[in-house]
Amino acid sequence: MLAPEAEAYPTTPSTGPMEVVTFVGEAMSSGEDSRSWALAKPAFTEAQASALVESVFGFRVSKVWPLPSYDDQNFHVCVSRSQDAADGPAEYVLKISNAEASKHPDVIDVQSRIIEFLRAAGFPTASVCRTKAGGLSSVVAVDRDSSVRSYVVRLLTYLPGRPVAELPVSSQLLYDIGRLAAKLDKTLEEFRHPGVRSLRREDFIWNLKSVPLLEQYLDALGQSRNRAIVEQVIQLFKQDVRTKLSEFRECINHGDLNDHNILIQSSKTASGDTVDQVSGILDFDDMSYGYYVFEVAITIMYMMIESKDPIPVGGHVLAGFESVIPLTAAERGSLFLLVCSRFCQSLVMAAHSCQLNPENRDYLMVTAKTGWRHLQQLFEMGQAAVEEIWFGTAKSYASGVTV
Ligand SMILES: Nc1ncnc2c1ncn2[C@@H]1O[C@H](COP(=O)(O)OP(=O)(O)O)[C@@H](O)[C@H]1O
Ligand SMILES: [Mg+2]
Repeated sequence: MLAPEAEAYPTTPSTGPMEVVTFVGEAMSSGEDSRSWALAKPAFTEAQASALVESVFGFRVSKVWPLPSYDDQNFHVCVSRSQDAADGPAEYVLKISNAEASKHPDVIDVQSRIIEFLRAAGFPTASVCRTKAGGLSSVVAVDRDSSVRSYVVRLLTYLPGRPVAELPVSSQLLYDIGRLAAKLDKTLEEFRHPGVRSLRREDFIWNLKSVPLLEQYLDALGQSRNRAIVEQVIQLFKQDVRTKLSEFRECINHGDLNDHNILIQSSKTASGDTVDQVSGILDFDDMSYGYYVFEVAITIMYMMIESKDPIPVGGHVLAGFESVIPLTAAERGSLFLLVCSRFCQSLVMAAHSCQLNPENRDYLMVTAKTGWRHLQQLFEMGQAAVEEIWFGTAKSYASGVTV
């Protein structure tokens, strides 16, 4: 049960940017079972989410409903405003980080600061709402069967637009997304904060440096042709990419520019043409130190996922990226394997996730089916043929003749 608001806030004094709200007793939904509890994914009910927004952020909630989430919990929240604050945003996203991620509040804090820094620099990222105590986040402690679990909660402004995944994506939009990814990495070089060192996330499974760590999850693939491809990619990564990391230019990566984390808004020009523009960059949870070439590889992989003609996609994204940050020969030479590596990370972790959460199987398998097909196609064509397409497209943009 959720403790009454008066008792729930604050029972523990605020410590620096993190303040703690303690809920006494069980704060899981009735459908919650011990397996989810063990997996550390939060399972707050809508009523509990609403109570949190009111007690931690001081808003009166008029409507709340769940948003999709991978291993955190997100709610879309509408607030009603008193007349004197009528001009503030009315829609927010309540983000409740899973218990594992919540063990690293320093990482979450720096993510929030980066979201704000990018917004100030003109990127379409959310604003991070202050708590009543003036912090960027708060910690909710949940007590169940005498074990306490803590979750970091944040409230972000709701951004307009539809996810790339739901739209037909033009070459121009792919180019723009590639360009935005490069500008983002470049802008992050100006970010200064002592907490930034927490983004050196050693052995973080979603950093492309961590591809060899996938070996521990290969059992989830059974004995299949897919497994054989993944094993080869890991081997090639160790041989041909890991040995070149010192030649790549380092930067902070967003690390997850996927087709659900980029929102698009369409508008009409004076001449009546429709223009698509990125209206939201979401989900900074996987940020870590990597390299420019990692960001473009990750973006290419996710833009390929929903495409009916996936191979050429890479050329347009690369061209946009290189209009801001031209890659070096060493970085270009690793791009193909890095795109294959990101497919492997995504597909192996989806298979592993399926084993842990069989109820999500249908959802995970639909995306995975397309992903495996694309990876097989990349692999069958081979590096030279794919590079010819990607680099040829990028060259045509550079010479002003777009394909
Ligand atoms: N600030 C926001 N504005 C609009 N929609 C959002 C916002 N934050 C999250 N969403 C929606 O919720 C989904 C999941 O949120 P996200 O931050 O990407 O978490 P996850 O780590 O679970 O992918 C997004 O794909 C998007 O549809
Ligand atoms: Mg996301």
